[in-house]
Amino acid sequence: MNAIEIKNLSKNFGQKQAVCGLNMTVPLGAIYGFIGENGSGKSTTEKMICGLIPKSDGTIRLYGKDHTDPDVRAKVGVLIETPGCFPGLTVWDNLMLQAANLGIRDAEIEVIRVLKTVRREGAAGNKYKNCSLGMKQRVGIAMALLGAPTLLVLDEPLNGLDADGMRIMREVFTDVVKDGTRSIVVSSHLLGELQKVATHYGIIRHGKMIREMTAAELDADCRTFTALQSGEMSRTKALLCCKYSRVEEDEAGYLRVYDGVTPEEIVVYLYDNGICVSEIRTDKIGLEEYYIDLMKEGK
Ligand SMILES: Nc1ncnc2c1ncn2[C@@H]1O[C@H](COP(=O)(O)OP(=O)(O)O)[C@@H](O)[C@H]1O
Ligand SMILES: [Mg+2]
Repeated sequence: MNAIEIKNLSKNFGQKQAVCGLNMTVPLGAIYGFIGENGSGKSTTEKMICGLIPKSDGTIRLYGKDHTDPDVRAKVGVLIETPGCFPGLTVWDNLMLQAANLGIRDAEIEVIRVLKTVRREGAAGNKYKNCSLGMKQRVGIAMALLGAPTLLVLDEPLNGLDADGMRIMREVFTDVVKDGTRSIVVSSHLLGELQKVATHYGIIRHGKMIREMTAAELDADCRTFTALQSGEMSRTKALLCCKYSRVEEDEAGYLRVYDGVTPEEIVVYLYDNGICVSEIRTDKIGLEEYYIDLMKEGK
């Protein structure tokens, strides 16, 4: 059984087809990074999963049941766009209200638990409207965690978080899925951050899933390269280009050779041509570059 199984899902807004024939599989225990450019259909898909908007076509199964089944609906925690909070109420009152909506018994204990989880016990008395963006995100995630849902659907939850907030969210996500039965779908354009925590990925383009893979498959797919610097970068580049088929300069000012050669071989070759390498390392591209390459291929 999977947490989510989507087949041939479509959504039309009038003439506009926002999602078209999308397939998606989220295994149990997955932190599923949902990636795609703006307008590719992530939020629309997430809203359909949670039953916030009706689908035009296709099937969505959550834990083996149709997503409209009240049993499974009750087990989904959601943060899509902004949390439904009342600006004039405190964080505490907003969470208590939501706990009441969900019919949670021992609501105070549960609200304290979720505030502790996002490390914001001290902020309970703040009015929601006075919270920073990062704090609002934490409140939104705390709200989604109320009642310990089996499935969390979080749309861009990392926006506005500082480094500490990012780290805490990674801990929260890892903790949620650790028993292997609960799962998280998290869309984000912060691919470097996502890669630190995601176990699975789905890449959507123009409303279609163009690739799904595990973190291990991504790792295997990411090209390795040797990056180097010398005192004479332009001559170094010219020499490398003579010998190797794929040489690029990266944003940090390193020359990258993708041909699968050893650093030793490059150092000797350049030394023989009168160039001393000042720094050299082997590395591999990350999710961000993988994604950019994939998008270029599709164009
Ligand atoms: N309520 C709506 N009415 C009309 N078009 C919409 C609506 N919601 C989303 N869309 C359109 O559907 C497409 C997908 O949007 P969305 O799912 O929000 O993308 P993403 O979350 O990946 O940025 C976009 O072209 C968007 O303009
Ligand atoms: Mg969106």
